[in-house]
Amino acid sequence: MSNKTINTEQGHWLLAKMGKKVLRPGGKELTLKLVNGLKINHEDSVVEFAPGMGFTASLLLEKRPKTYTGVELNEEAAGLLQQKIHAKAYTIVNRSAADSGIESASVNKVIGEAMLTMQPDHRKSEIIREAYRVLQPGGYYGIHELGLAPDHIDPEIKKDVQQNLAKVIKVNARPLTISEWCSLLEDEGFKIKAVEENPMELLKLKRILADEGFFRTLKICFNILTHPKAKKKILEMRDTFNKYEDHLTSFAIIAEKKA
Ligand SMILES: C[S@@+](CC[C@H](N)C(=O)[O-])C[C@H]1O[C@@H](n2cnc3c(N)ncnc32)[C@H](O)[C@@H]1O
Repeated sequence: MSNKTINTEQGHWLLAKMGKKVLRPGGKELTLKLVNGLKINHEDSVVEFAPGMGFTASLLLEKRPKTYTGVELNEEAAGLLQQKIHAKAYTIVNRSAADSGIESASVNKVIGEAMLTMQPDHRKSEIIREAYRVLQPGGYYGIHELGLAPDHIDPEIKKDVQQNLAKVIKVNARPLTISEWCSLLEDEGFKIKAVEENPMELLKLKRILADEGFFRTLKICFNILTHPKAKKKILEMRDTFNKYEDHLTSFAIIAEKKA
């Protein structure tokens, strides 16, 4: 699939088109826990994998890090975000997070949200390895991804969830259990420092209000109601999320590259 332009067939870009800004499974609440847990300050060199429309980028840039590099695969999204960023030390590169082009051991914080889930397992590991490569020893990697529950989920249910998610969000989503996420990070040399969990409530009204605020929620609802094709797809997504409610969750993990 081309990564030149934004493809609104895909669930996250469709929601973005409807005006949704917070496009990660654990919402703004889990993002804030992750960003605060990373304790970003003006001495940090930060890399963000897959900044997308830049919601987390703006939270990170408020902390005035020494440098910020967003690594975004989609050319159009990368271009749109670059236009919003003006400082010289803050840039967006249009590359894959599996091959960022960033110098080895040159940064001390890496963050990536809702981007590993959509990769096959071997690519998840490549991206985690890239985070490890660019980090200095003692540096931190924070992720926020879609999770599966319980930890020993029946493999048949896991397959069913993955297939049905892929069908409605038009992205090969492969969420993992917390043990699986931690193992992927540990296999590449990371040490787990902190884990947080939030329910996966991306399309629940309560969460949309918390993430987007009252007026943006009204605007999103208006946009959905006035775009019948989008409405049909979003309702299908919501039905699938509701169907698997007991098995879907979201995790934020902070891992350290051992010193
Ligand atoms: C679901 S959106 C999440 C965006 C943002 N992180 C957020 O939480 O709002 C997924 C993003 O990952 C980007 N992406 C997917 N694979 C990527 C890769 N290998 N390298 C960099 N970006 C990638 C997509 O272009 C898209 O912007």
